Amino acid sequence: MSKVVVITGATSGIGFAAVKEFARMGMAVIGVGRSDQSCKTALAEIGRESDNEDIIYIPADLSSQKQVRKAAGEITSIVDNRYNGTIDVLINNAGTFSGWYRATEDGYELQFAVNYLSHFLLTNMLLPKLGISVDIGETGKPGIAATGRIITISSGSHYHTRMNWKDIMNRKRYNCLTAYKQSKLADVLFTYALNRRFSDSHNIRAYVVDPGLVNTAIGEKRTGGLVKWFWGMRRKHGIQPEEAAKTIIYLASENNLIQEDAVYWKECTPKEPSKYSQDRDAALKLWRVSERLCGIHEQGTNDIHQKVENGKPEQNTDTGLQKTERSEPEQMDSRRLITISRGEAV
Ligand SMILES: NC(=O)c1ccc[n+]([C@@H]2O[C@H](COP(=O)([O-])OP(=O)(O)OC[C@H]3O[C@@H](n4cnc5c(N)ncnc54)[C@H](OP(=O)(O)O)[C@@H]3O)[C@@H](O)[C@H]2O)c1
Repeated sequence: MSKVVVITGATSGIGFAAVKEFARMGMAVIGVGRSDQSCKTALAEIGRESDNEDIIYIPADLSSQKQVRKAAGEITSIVDNRYNGTIDVLINNAGTFSGWYRATEDGYELQFAVNYLSHFLLTNMLLPKLGISVDIGETGKPGIAATGRIITISSGSHYHTRMNWKDIMNRKRYNCLTAYKQSKLADVLFTYALNRRFSDSHNIRAYVVDPGLVNTAIGEKRTGGLVKWFWGMRRKHGIQPEEAAKTIIYLASENNLIQEDAVYWKECTPKEPSKYSQDRDAALKLWRVSERLCGIHEQGTNDIHQKVENGKPEQNTDTGLQKTERSEPEQMDSRRLITISRGEAV
């Protein structure tokens, strides 16, 4: 077995195509799927094509932070029991497109919650398995020497978009496309933030993939009417999921990337993302907002995180953020890394 890969959105489209290829390559895969049924169906299909026994599926609806936390716990146990406590690659691929405003059980806009926030939370919870060990230097144990990669699937739709800080959930005047684009922009900002925080001091590298237009059903699952019809027409011009998965597979499996420090990738080639997506202040602000929305805090930080620690993050988290934000060194020290409150975010 070569590498241990965790991938969300592993039951259809680009994610499923990637899992099939990983299985063929002999990698160990922990796939996350939205439902029990979709996981069983995906696993059965893989079983017909490959005799790789290291393919495991975990059902979790990523729109629920409770289920994200549960999935992270299950992944951690599997990795500890079967794979020496190490994940080589985490692939944040799950995505949804909703034709109208939908709120998750946590009270967040669905596309922002699934396409970005679930991955922010999952990644933070799995960081210790990706090579960031809180044990380094503290217990006398050798630190984990993995070179963890985090690959997040964004989209070319992140161009010409900015974060709507005043209404990050897009509750007012909801536009499904604007909400989708913002969630994909957040994925790029997040990836830059991960590299700024962890790539120098830890063996972690974060990449973002733009798969281009792909012939999948993403625009037909939670839409109707004109939007569904439009996507049905548009997807026919897209490439096949197997083709789109190639960049993910390359970044996950190639030890010597053509440009290791390039962040944004399309068709196995580095590409320049939007200027705004590389903005340090926007990335830091998003990180802070996301910590708050997920009930994550760093030890010894400011008021916001103390409030979250007490299990009382405010319901309306879109306001008052500027008052309590602070500047901080972006490079993090693993020993004052992340703790995640046990209570639910809201
Ligand atoms: N297709 C394109 O043209 C295109 C272009 C740019 C970027 N992308 C991105 O590529 C990624 C993969 O999309 P795709 O085109 O392959 O679409 P897809 O076939 O619909 O795959 C999306 C996957 O995410 C899962 N998912 C959706 N909501 C979920 C939830 N609440 N909890 C857990 N899993 C959930 C889906 O499961 P269910 O089927 O059970 O909902 C599915 O397995 C997405 O991030 C998408 O934004 C796609």
